Amino acid sequence: MKITLIGTGYVGLVTGTCLAEVGNDVLCLDVDPRKIDLLKSGGIPIFEPGLDDLVRRNVAAGRLQFTTDIEAAVHFGDIQFIAVGTPPDEDGSADLQYVTAAARNIGRHMTGYKLVVDKSTVPVGTADRVRAAIREELGSRGVDIDFSVASNPEFLKEGAAIEDFMKPDRIVIGTDNEQATQLLRRLYAPFQRNHERLVTMDIRSAELTKYAANAMLATRISFMNELAVLAEKLGADIELVRQGIGSDPRIGYHFLYAGCGYGGSCFPKDVQALRRTAEESGAPLRVLNAVEEANEAQKSVLITKLKARFGEALAGRRFALWGLAFKPNTDDMREAPSRVMMEALWAMGASVTAYDPAAMEETHRIYGDRPDLTLVDTPMKALADADALLIVTEWKAFRSPDFAAMKSLLKAPVIFDGRNLYDPATIQREGFEYYPIGRRV
Ligand code: NAD
Ligand code: UDX
Repeated sequence: MKITLIGTGYVGLVTGTCLAEVGNDVLCLDVDPRKIDLLKSGGIPIFEPGLDDLVRRNVAAGRLQFTTDIEAAVHFGDIQFIAVGTPPDEDGSADLQYVTAAARNIGRHMTGYKLVVDKSTVPVGTADRVRAAIREELGSRGVDIDFSVASNPEFLKEGAAIEDFMKPDRIVIGTDNEQATQLLRRLYAPFQRNHERLVTMDIRSAELTKYAANAMLATRISFMNELAVLAEKLGADIELVRQGIGSDPRIGYHFLYAGCGYGGSCFPKDVQALRRTAEESGAPLRVLNAVEEANEAQKSVLITKLKARFGEALAGRRFALWGLAFKPNTDDMREAPSRVMMEALWAMGASVTAYDPAAMEETHRIYGDRPDLTLVDTPMKALADADALLIVTEWKAFRSPDFAAMKSLLKAPVIFDGRNLYDPATIQREGFEYYPIGRRV
């Protein structure tokens, strides 16, 4: 099939590449010429394990191409995926200007039937807006061309995007006609594996499903984070509680890890957007207010522990930070807890020496050169002369470090662990003062 991806970011590039991998002809459009130039010259604009090989293979096979030419992109694909950003507006609701612009471009240039698929995470009712924008453009051209709009939200996780796309738990498709359903059923047939992955429904339910999934996951995390704070007060251990409740299949083990808060490009904005939708609809999701509030507080939990240990006047002190990205296997810093922590430390006069396996360039892009931030190229270098270590992201490389070497580098052997990487008894035997999240020390 001939497919156009409008928007070549995390979702557009991964979707386009995986659809090419199973034999489709794919053209990825973006309005950012730097991104497209980089892709055309063999570069990859994002850090995503396995993506570069897959892109290269499909470009070489002639199945995957990149362009900034809007008209050519609209002519190319029988299916037009909209995979542009939907960032939060000032009031937290999803900003649909990029989605609307993409829809208008389709209406402006289409000459034959198109199936337009919203892959971006968009509020309920967006398909209607996309349809209206296309109709308006067709109207102003004085033409009447048949098209359909469908919803196909994306559930991939950064860092595991290829695996998630190629082997999905489910593929949600919201349509209002059989032709659209059949086209998408054919497109996704190679991803079905050994049992039905396709969940077909009406468009509004599909749009809501995406927000419901992210809000449910964020709720689990915030609940565990608040429970971890309580466990500390009560002398219980959140890790044992996690095992105790996760063993109940109704609860399950996934997404039950307490930590220093969730970040990323999705959970924070999607929780906010769903809250706004619910408020505007007169059916407020009160539970989500608490989810957000708990997460904001959780991003400062390590700093609260650090202040209790070192006081609030931190001028002249230096802290080592392991992990900057909002989670492992990505260089994405959007809403990363590390940012809240670094900014709090700077505000108290401390400086930070940080290491991340992937996100240092991105950190430098955000903060530039400043005297209170040093980026180093190994985890051990970050520890030299630091008053303590803060662990913010659970990269594999941090899981079994050389504790003796760490002790000799740090000024004092103090670790604030925002991801509960170590067994408290073992690390204390190694001679460290250890401050994890919700664990009994
Ligand atoms: P992104 O910012 O990485 O990419 C969006 C791209 O769209 C950018 O490259 C931008 O230049 C381009 N663009 C904007 N307007 C355009 C236009 N009119 N025509 C062509 N290109 C245009 O965003 P992303 O992370 O890929 O997210 C895209 C959508 O998918 C969002 O709604 C997001 O919530 C959702 N989503 C993201 C993830 C994720 O892990 N990143 C997962 C699931 C769903
Ligand atoms: C999320 C959804 O998982 C994915 O389905 C959707 O398509 C996009 O949003 P992503 O943001 O890439 O994916 O990362 P995810 O692995 O979900 O982690 C989000 C945040 O939650 C991270 O900051 C992570 O550290 C945190 N987290 C996750 C926890 O604190 N505890 C957990 O148990 C799991």
